[in-house]
Order: sequence, then structure tokens, then C-alpha cells
Amino acid sequence: MTYSAIDLIETKRDGGVLSSDAIGWLIAAYTDGSVADYQMSAMAMAILLNGMNNEELAAWTEAMLHSGEVMDFSDIAAAKIDKHSTGGVGDKISIPLVPMVAACGVLIPMISGRGLGHTGGTLDKLESIPGFTTSLDAYRFRTLLIEHGLVLAGASETMVPADRKLYALRDTTGTVPSIPLIASSIMSKKLAEGLDGLLLDVKTGSGASIKKLDQSRELAHTMVGIGAVHGVNTVAFITTMDQPLGHEVGNANEIRESIDVLRGHGPADVTELTMVFGETMLELAGIEGGRDRLDEAIQSGAALQKFIEVVEAHGGDPLVIDDPSLLAVAPREAVVVAPDSGYVTRCDALTIGTVATHLGAGRERKEDTIDPGVGITLKAKHGDTVHQGDPLAIVHYSDESKWEAQRGTLETAWSISDELTRSQDLIIERIDASAL
Ligand code: URA
Repeated sequence: MTYSAIDLIETKRDGGVLSSDAIGWLIAAYTDGSVADYQMSAMAMAILLNGMNNEELAAWTEAMLHSGEVMDFSDIAAAKIDKHSTGGVGDKISIPLVPMVAACGVLIPMISGRGLGHTGGTLDKLESIPGFTTSLDAYRFRTLLIEHGLVLAGASETMVPADRKLYALRDTTGTVPSIPLIASSIMSKKLAEGLDGLLLDVKTGSGASIKKLDQSRELAHTMVGIGAVHGVNTVAFITTMDQPLGHEVGNANEIRESIDVLRGHGPADVTELTMVFGETMLELAGIEGGRDRLDEAIQSGAALQKFIEVVEAHGGDPLVIDDPSLLAVAPREAVVVAPDSGYVTRCDALTIGTVATHLGAGRERKEDTIDPGVGITLKAKHGDTVHQGDPLAIVHYSDESKWEAQRGTLETAWSISDELTRSQDLIIERIDASAL
């Protein structure tokens, strides 16, 4: 049956419910271009404001999933496990995590996203490695998975094309923080991968797309529920995103820090999350002794070697792993200094992520290109002691006028006090199908 896009938008705008058939039509018509971007933007905003019920969400996720090829790796015996984050600032966890887990014998067919709003994206980070391509067809995707045990691709013309278009649209239309749109975006990509198990990192706090804990919990339950309906064993962690993860924000900066983690000297928070997620992915794959195996993969260099192998397989320059100084660095540098002495009680992820985006680490319009060398290196985070004039951050940027416009905002990202305050735990809770 054919529908009118305007009728469907008006139905959702006025708080009505869309039928499964109408949703199937809308997603197919948007994918083939007969529904225009501006109509889908209006629909995304209506969904953000009015939500979707369970039937609508199931139909929306199914329609996205079947907008392209759904992979079937059931002929490959090894467990296929993946990880996805709802998005944060400095959230580079997937990059050190997946080679580490793949080095322990788990297959990881990963379809990731680009930066979304003020949050960074795995694809943009990987593409800061010269030559690295994330645009693969299903045949190449399968070949890389079999040959290397790990493949890192984006939604494409053939794989989840509806999310490829809708994701870019949401990024620039203020329609990211919607629980049904996030859940269907993530789960349609993940279900297309032919997985046995999935780990989800649901961020909460200032720098997350969903900032309130009860809503992050709802998002986690929604996605674990979608996984269960589709027979994919799904575990979600709710983790804090009040301040950026690690010390680096920006695409090439985050690849550098990921290499540090793979060499065994990454920052404590990034290393801790990587290890907990790695252990859980091994548990989902039925592999015992997770922590020891992951430590061994780092100590022996097997995890780093796997990353080098996969970078090369994706057309990237493996020399940058040995010598990260070959990665892009934007030409201009500025330092943000502490206005007072004391304890850092706040290092705000949203402010830092938004400034990085405006400087060129993310997109303001969907056709914008990323400046891979734009980055913010954090010198002081929650709990650190600083003296007046100490550096809080070093910023690399290309465009002086953009920096002049952002400098004042970035300076507001830190609070300094005489009293030390406790920071939120990194991992708040774990949710699996038994909690549904
Ligand atoms: N990651 C995704 O793939 N989609 C979202 O909507 C948010 C994070």
C-alpha cells in the first residue's frame, strides 16, 4: 500500500500511532529517495517529541534492518560478538577493545556510526588513519571477517542504508536524543551483522545523548529487549559520561590514545572500561578466563598486531601505529589555563564535545567534512589538583575565527574548588535479558 508522507508526519505530530505497514512504506520510500530528507527530518522531530509505542518501535527497527542486506554467518562456527556505544565524548573504547577481543579468538563483524551531535563516531576516528576505508559491500565485509576475525565498516548503500541516511540527517537536525530513534538505529545495524551476542554501552550524563539515568536505563532495557526478540544475547552497561573518557578528544587524537591502550599504557578509565567490556564479550562468546586472556593479548603484542593487520586490510597506513606522530595534527595550538588553584570538580563532556565539533572534529551540516587533526588534549580532569595558570587543555585547531568563537565556551568546561568532590562511578549498572 502507498501512503502520503505528509499524512504520516501529521499523524505522528498530533500524537497518533503509525501502523507497521505505514512504517515499512516510509522507511523503504526514504531509502529509495521518494520521501525527501526534509520530510524525514520532520518525522524524526515528531518522533523525538511524541515517542513510539512498542509495536511502532519493532516495526521501525525491522524496516531499517531489512532496508538492505542482512548478513548470515551461521556457517562460521566461531562466536560472532559485537559492541556498540550510544555515544560519548572521547569514547574511543571500541578501537582498542575489538582488536584485543579478536586476538582472543572472537569474530567481530562491526558496523559502526559516524559522529552524532557533539559525540564522536568510530568511523570518523578510523578514517583519520590515512587510507582507511569503512565503506564495504557485503562480500568484502564477509571476506575480511573470515580472514582477520574483525571487520570495521559503516552502514552502506547495501547494508542498513536507511540508517546511513537517517543517521546523517539526525546529526544535523537536533533529533539525536530520542530513545526509539537511538534504539532502532543501533539495533538495526547490529541485527544486520548476524551476531550471537552483543554488548551495549549506554552512556548517561552531560556528554551522553540521553543524559538522565532513568532514561538511559529505559534505552538499555529497550535495546536488550530488541536483542532478545531477535535471539541475540545482549548485555548492556550503563556508564557515566559526565566528563570525557581518557585525555584525548578528536579523531586522530583518539586513535593515538587507543594505540596507547593497545600498548598497555592507556589512561585508567579507558583501560578499565576496555577490560570490563572485553571480559563480557569473551563471556558472551563462551570463552573462560577473560581478564587473563586480555592481559596476555596486550602483553604479548597480539592485540596491537591484530590492529595493525586490520588497518592494513582496510587500506589504512599501518606505519601510523608504529609512529602515531604521522597522524594529523591541526596546525594551530592554544592552551586553556586554570583561573584558580584547587581541585577540579567538573570537566564537562558536553561543553568539550560541542567545542570540538564546532572546531571541525564533528559536523554542523551533513555534507561537512571532518578535520581529523582538530583535537583537545585534557590536562586536568575531575579529582586532579591544579595551580592557577596550569594548563587545563591543549587545543589543536585550523581556523582562527572558529577558535575565537569557541575559546570562551571551552573555558567554562572546568570548575575548580577548595573541596574535592566524589566523581560518579564509571560503571553504574549491568542489564541483561534476565532483567526484562
Ligand atoms: N549510535 C548509533 O548507531 N545510533 C544512534 O542513534 C546513537 C548512537
